[in-house]
Amino acid sequence: METVDLYLHNAEQVVTCASGAPRRGPTMAEAAVIENGAVAVSAGRIVAVGTTDDLQGRFAPRRTIDCRGRSVCPGFVDAHTHTVFGGDRAAEFELRIKGASYLEIMAAGGGIVSTVRYTRAASMSELESAACKRLDEMLALGTTTVEIKTGYGLSVSDELKMLQVIERLDQNHPCDIVPTFLGAHAVPPEFDGDSEAYTRCVIDKILPEVADWYKTSRFAERGVSMYIDVFCEDHAFDLNQSRRVLEAGIESGFRAKMHVDQFNDFGGVATALELDAASVDHLDVTGPEAIASLAQSDTIAVLLPAVNFNLGLTNYADARTMMDSGAVVALATDLNPGSAPCPSMPAVMAIACRYQRFTPAEALHASTINGACAIGQGDETGSIEAGKRADILILSEGDYRHIPYFFGSNPVHTVIKNGQVLDP
Ligand code: NIG
Ligand code: FE
Repeated sequence: METVDLYLHNAEQVVTCASGAPRRGPTMAEAAVIENGAVAVSAGRIVAVGTTDDLQGRFAPRRTIDCRGRSVCPGFVDAHTHTVFGGDRAAEFELRIKGASYLEIMAAGGGIVSTVRYTRAASMSELESAACKRLDEMLALGTTTVEIKTGYGLSVSDELKMLQVIERLDQNHPCDIVPTFLGAHAVPPEFDGDSEAYTRCVIDKILPEVADWYKTSRFAERGVSMYIDVFCEDHAFDLNQSRRVLEAGIESGFRAKMHVDQFNDFGGVATALELDAASVDHLDVTGPEAIASLAQSDTIAVLLPAVNFNLGLTNYADARTMMDSGAVVALATDLNPGSAPCPSMPAVMAIACRYQRFTPAEALHASTINGACAIGQGDETGSIEAGKRADILILSEGDYRHIPYFFGSNPVHTVIKNGQVLDP
């Protein structure tokens, strides 16, 4: 009998989300459910998954958890966040309630740039401890892998400060982190609205330092890729500037991502596809032609419906057309202090099911395997399969559909991260 560290059995359902590739087309809606399921874990990895009857007697576990009345699914992968930031924007929240729009606040010198001021003023340890608390909350809500962007530093030293905080979080927090350089997030105040001059600064000054930093970072050491992202939007960066930033990032060895079509469609999806971007994110105003070309590509559509919800907007991305036409769709929180102060993947799934007509199975795949693929982690996490990291959730209910169905509460009973049971 093989000795293993952990054995889960008698689960009403084990939803594996297993798939050799991101799920798309009809496989998106097909939940791979093992009834009366079991999972064996050793040395932080999944060793076996099957029915309790099949796995019974094969293992000598150091610890056993009886999952009767509960279900089991992969840990969530949050593929788009801005988890590291200083201060908050509660005052803007109130301004928006009174009628100001997100872009109006940004044009008036608030928005992202106000978080830049707080972030520049904060020390590394202040940023780390604030972000650590956010990650604790995300982990308790089932998120086991998190992409984190820079983009509130916007100078060489402040972007490097953010990257060092991101690296420390990866080292000190149980969540696995994937870093993204988002130097082209907004034009910092010292550039006085000159987005062209700042674009050149990102390409010529900040990016080379970031590329050097990455080479000796723990991410490079552990084979975790780094991404380059840009906010292609009014009051941020136009299509030409976005393309140049992404091309320079690709040249430095990073893969592209793009905040695109959030409020205005500049044709960014076509550019992202030309650059073989890993993902295009937001897509709230993306038209049918761009959706059709996305469906023919391997670029992942990362949808962020907590933003629409938080901004009180009803123009959710057309996820139904994207999924029905075969595009790869993922969901993420976009956790940030302005447009999405939301750490919860279950909340995102709840919104996506109600306003974008994801089925519960689609929402789960979008939040696990497809999210993992959007950040280069599809071989490591996002599904319950032998050989993958043991990032597993035991849910309080026996039917996984309760994740989006019962909203506003935490559906997660126990989180298992890299094989470690984080006891509630
Ligand atoms: O993804 N859209 C640009 N960036 C973030 C918002 C960041 C902020 O408001 O601080 C987003 O929505
Ligand atoms: Fe974002």
